[in-house]
Amino acid sequence: MSQVVLITGASSGIGKTSALLLAERGYIVYAGTRTPEKFDTNAENLHVIQLDITDSKSIRTAVKKIHKEQGRIDVLVNNAGYGLVSTVEDVTEEEMFNQFNVNVFGIFRVCKEVIPLMRENNSGVIINISSFLGKIGLPLLTFYNSSKYAVEGITDSLRYELRDFNIRVHSIMPGFFSTNFAKDNLVANVSTFDENSPYANLVSNLAPNIVEQINEGNDAGEAAELIVKMIEDEASLARETVGDKARQFIPMRRELSDEDFERRVREYYKLNG
Ligand SMILES: NC(=O)c1ccc[n+]([C@@H]2O[C@H](COP(=O)([O-])OP(=O)(O)OC[C@H]3O[C@@H](n4cnc5c(N)ncnc54)[C@H](OP(=O)(O)O)[C@@H]3O)[C@@H](O)[C@H]2O)c1
Repeated sequence: MSQVVLITGASSGIGKTSALLLAERGYIVYAGTRTPEKFDTNAENLHVIQLDITDSKSIRTAVKKIHKEQGRIDVLVNNAGYGLVSTVEDVTEEEMFNQFNVNVFGIFRVCKEVIPLMRENNSGVIINISSFLGKIGLPLLTFYNSSKYAVEGITDSLRYELRDFNIRVHSIMPGFFSTNFAKDNLVANVSTFDENSPYANLVSNLAPNIVEQINEGNDAGEAAELIVKMIEDEASLARETVGDKARQFIPMRRELSDEDFERRVREYYKLNG
């Protein structure tokens, strides 16, 4: 029997590529998106479904529909996310709430609806798409960083909470990937990007560099292949990296002291003032 997968934020990038790959491999895929009209496909086994992870009602409606059509959800990929680029002193209340509303509370909301179905089946896999920036801080990305650190925490705690119900929980920490992320899903705070900002030097050094690294990053297909592998291999690790930047920085993060690691990041991103 084919496994049923729900992916969030699936109209582009890693979500879309994974949805197409999983459908091709015979999974029944529900590609959750706020904008179903953006994902025009007639791929077999692939259902594009309206889903806004900031809206509990939208999530309940989507999960009910999948339950009615398939009777279960075997795999949940929490992929939807975006990045706020702002200093802490400039951020607005709305910007900081929204960053966590999507990247963190969105995961809680979707899990809240999907876990009971998995628990009833005594089986399930949850994969949270975090980031290598879920283990590494960078200036101007404090809100994105801390939201992804939270995703790592969710993964760690849920692994204990759901183990007795045979539900596996994992995170994937991608490096930079050449998706629509830099073009559509980096949200810049206006004051931080003002030319008279006291952070103007930092902004002009770092921001274009990050955008370039994302646009020249790895192919989303690599992340999609890892998602398939994690679903199929019961012995998968709690968390895995994918992409060059994650492979470069995560082992270093584990091996070095906080201070030595910070020195390496400062040198790499030319943050030495
Ligand atoms: N690209 C990278 O360099 C990189 C690196 C590390 C981690 N990641 C993570 O990988 C995941 C996928 O990103 P991607 O690179 O594939 O980027 P992408 O092509 O821009 O796709 C991001 C998806 O997230 C959803 N999303 C964005 N803003 C949202 C909002 N305000 N509310 C609800 N959903 C929203 C969108 O879903 P809809 O279909 O609903 O529009 C969109 O399809 C994200 O969690 C991102 O943080 C990306």
